[in-house]
Amino acid sequence: MPKSPKEAVDRAAELTALIVAANHAYHELDAPEIPDADYDLAVRELAQLEEQYPELKSESSPTQTIGFGASTLFTPVVHSVRMMSLDNAMNLDELVAWGKRMERFVSDPITYVCEPKIDGLAMSIRYENGQFVRAATRGDGRVGEDVTANVATLASVPKKLGGKDVPAVLEVRGEVYMPIVSFTGLNARQQDAGLTLFANPRNAAAGSLRQKDPSITASRNLAFFCYQLGEVAGGPGFKTHQETLAYLRDHGLPVNDAITAVDSLDAVHKYCEQRLENRHALMYEIDGVVVKVDSLTQRDEMGFTTKAPRWAIAFKFPPEERTTLLRDIHVSIGRTGQATPFAILDPVFVGGSTVSLATLHNQDQVAVKDVRPGDHVIVRKAGDVIPEVVGPVLSMRPKGLKKWTFPKECTTCGQPLVRREGVSATFCVNPACPAQQWAGICHFVSRGAMDIEGLGERTVSLFLQQGLLQDAGDVFFLDYNKVRTIEGFGDISVENLRASVAAARDRPLANLLFGLGIKHVGGAGAAALAKGLGSMDAIAAATVDQVAELDGVGMVIAESIVTWFAEPSNQVLIEKLRRADVNFDGPAAPDAPQTLAGKSIVVTGTLEGFTRESAEEAILERGGKAPSSVSKKTTAVVVGEGRGAAKFTKAQELGVPVLDEAGFVHLLKTGELPG
Ligand code: IVH
Repeated sequence: MPKSPKEAVDRAAELTALIVAANHAYHELDAPEIPDADYDLAVRELAQLEEQYPELKSESSPTQTIGFGASTLFTPVVHSVRMMSLDNAMNLDELVAWGKRMERFVSDPITYVCEPKIDGLAMSIRYENGQFVRAATRGDGRVGEDVTANVATLASVPKKLGGKDVPAVLEVRGEVYMPIVSFTGLNARQQDAGLTLFANPRNAAAGSLRQKDPSITASRNLAFFCYQLGEVAGGPGFKTHQETLAYLRDHGLPVNDAITAVDSLDAVHKYCEQRLENRHALMYEIDGVVVKVDSLTQRDEMGFTTKAPRWAIAFKFPPEERTTLLRDIHVSIGRTGQATPFAILDPVFVGGSTVSLATLHNQDQVAVKDVRPGDHVIVRKAGDVIPEVVGPVLSMRPKGLKKWTFPKECTTCGQPLVRREGVSATFCVNPACPAQQWAGICHFVSRGAMDIEGLGERTVSLFLQQGLLQDAGDVFFLDYNKVRTIEGFGDISVENLRASVAAARDRPLANLLFGLGIKHVGGAGAAALAKGLGSMDAIAAATVDQVAELDGVGMVIAESIVTWFAEPSNQVLIEKLRRADVNFDGPAAPDAPQTLAGKSIVVTGTLEGFTRESAEEAILERGGKAPSSVSKKTTAVVVGEGRGAAKFTKAQELGVPVLDEAGFVHLLKTGELPG
């Protein structure tokens, strides 16, 4: 907060400029420059300043107006009933405080209606005598723009109302949005065509509506949910919001099934928590929950502020997009030699954690996004997805900022980087590259593989520097006398390390195979190979056809396996592991009942009683398949904590049953889906 009135005036001017520019970019250009979260913070800070220094307040302040006037691209439409915005609650405490205030306003108890806050665009759709006649955007709340031709292409917007007693005029308000599957499909097509990607489904929906050619809008698969009435003539009287929604539904309008009425603030709290936890489980993006008072009589008592009704509030989820400073771009070399550019950021709280590194994926992505060290960039972290840089905020770019170019040489070993024909990845192809050795050994000793306690990333790095390790096999031939001389290693830690290395010799063959880091061979593939061929020597000697024949192994893995074992340096590694007496034998013949024969089960997220590997092993042991992606042939998808939205969404789309852990245990035991 500014210390003096002068500072307050300057800060208010700065915030006003930022908000006005953001409004322009968002409402008029459909190209938001800064994330909603940063916008909301700026509006809040300005409102606080105006409260502290009332002389800063004016009618034209962005705190007193909604959005921005309609652009001139489409014909203006004056809304007969104003389209209001909502006040925000930034956390659950603010939400409950709002509810308590409302409860003091009225004498009877309040029923609340909780609605997912769809991240799309507000739309007003008008029916006259049951016929769709017009669709208009919100604009500044009083005047929007006519997008009738485009909205007419949406399958979820009926052109004719159903039901009995159709009113003379019915205006519905709701949200036009882009379902996540449509968004990912659109961006994939954009990428193939070398066009700029849309940052998120909201921007994509906005861009798709603002088309002069409605056939483009039609190809974008937008959808609509309604949640409010505008002007109505000749309709029945309603007592509650729930009645209104039922009426809209009865006339064939799309109302979200996830809307729930509850009778206490505790229940509102619970609904919001659950929605927040499962925000990525829906087919569309939501950025919060809208809580509304159900009784229309109580709403009348509560009334409106200049901008928003008092009887509703938007509980905003913590942001998944924020702006921060891009300090630098580095390139990391993975165990396959792949060079991945990543951003070093000023730490920023986004998507539930503080992020200071974010991926830039590959050379093409940096080129398309053209982010430069010194830029302010938008960082996105959605659910369990790794943080990524969406793009630069061009209006904040300092003058003369130099374009960043992808290095020509490996940043670790200095050898030239190679870009293979037809792929977006760039590689360091020097097998002796210390970065690759480090990543490969770290993977080999990691939990799903040889699981060697006491050999963390830092220790591997130290051992590489000291010449104690060159490849994964050296882990079993460590010179412990030399280890003892390294700072931080005493007798106890050396003995502990020796014991964990010794224990690793007996790990299952599947763990060893997985640890070798063969391309495309994950935990499930390794388990299928170990079970199907029975020993390391049988796998090494197998042909592509023999490997591809195994249950749970496809052609891609088969070819990768055969190529890997044909490589002389890998044969040397296998012999080193044999000399170290590492277990090369697969599991004994299965004795578990083959309850899952012919079934295919996908596991996603973390389960309590299983690791991912052991869950997949349990499926394979019972004769089932455990592929990593969902298809029409999938019997069920088992969903644990923190699972990715994609598999869940795909399962819902294809009508594949989704099981929790208890359902999974039932399926393992009986081979049947829970009833
Ligand atoms: S009610 C007067 N309900 O959120 C009440 N709005 O931040 C008007 N939104 O402008 C809005 N889902 O674009 C309402 N279930 C929902 C909503 C919702 C998304 C959007 C809408 C509104 C903005 C306010």
